[in-house]
Amino acid sequence: MNLEDLTGRTAVITGAGSGIGESVARQAAALGMNVALADVSPARLDTVAAGLRADGHTVLAVPTDVTDAAQVDALADAVYAAFGSVTLLHNNAGLESLGNTWEVPADEWRRVIDVNLNGVFHGVRSFLPRMGADPQPSHVVNTCSVGGIAITPRMTAYAASKHGVQALTECLYLECAATFPQIRVSVFNPARVATRIFEDIDVHDETAADAGYWREEIRGGMSPGSAAKALFDGLSRGEFWILSHPEDFERLAAKRARVLSERLTPDAVFDGRN
Ligand SMILES: NC(=O)c1ccc[n+]([C@@H]2O[C@H](COP(=O)([O-])OP(=O)(O)OC[C@H]3O[C@@H](n4cnc5c(N)ncnc54)[C@H](O)[C@@H]3O)[C@@H](O)[C@H]2O)c1
Repeated sequence: MNLEDLTGRTAVITGAGSGIGESVARQAAALGMNVALADVSPARLDTVAAGLRADGHTVLAVPTDVTDAAQVDALADAVYAAFGSVTLLHNNAGLESLGNTWEVPADEWRRVIDVNLNGVFHGVRSFLPRMGADPQPSHVVNTCSVGGIAITPRMTAYAASKHGVQALTECLYLECAATFPQIRVSVFNPARVATRIFEDIDVHDETAADAGYWREEIRGGMSPGSAAKALFDGLSRGEFWILSHPEDFERLAAKRARVLSERLTPDAVFDGRN
């Protein structure tokens, strides 16, 4: 993707009310793109949209729960009605969850899979046919995580959802190459980025210690602006794998490769966290 050539084009970002999505929206707008912002929180969406409009950017803000296929269809209808085409679709909305597998409340488990995995599917389902009907080049990037290749106990719902996003995105890459060659597909695998993701989790007695650990980890992480810059750098280089912390990714990928190729049990490479 040529970043010099994005003026007047359109970016759609889910989870745009906070953190990585908010920063991606700001950088897309700074590149001259129209930005279509989607988030389940109308209040967060209003704040981000108002800030961008005050800076003179063209913004469409559509309150959207990505777990609801009909709402994501309505988002796509609104974006195409407003702007006519989409050059960047960023399926990014996500949330965290902690706890041993058997401790996670059933509704929390379903919500995490629904937002993190089904939300990405809904974005693809609603936008890809229209992007595919447009001969102009375009790009889909799905926010996964280093958690999409790591094994992190007591973060099982999140890990399961993100391993799903990883698989979905690799399948989608091959499907687009075969059917819509003008659409490039990338996966974004951030590590620690200082957002509110662990502030928003439900903390139970059993998960309080882990919540404290991860909140500290994240607070000391990369800024969302730097993560968004890593994303646009990766897009400009045409990368499939876009990383915020390549060294973390390589360490975790090496462990995963060993477990699979040598058929080890998970404890053989486990270091206390992943
Ligand atoms: N922060 C990190 O260290 C980190 C690391 C790896 C991956 N990620 C991923 O990055 C993505 C963005 O997370 P973030 O860290 O910026 O967190 P964040 O909490 O700051 O932002 C996530 C946004 O998603 C929105 N959202 C939640 N449920 C939604 C739904 N059903 N529909 C629409 N929007 C919804 C929230 O309201 C919020 O504004 C997530 O997919 C997350 O898993 C983050």
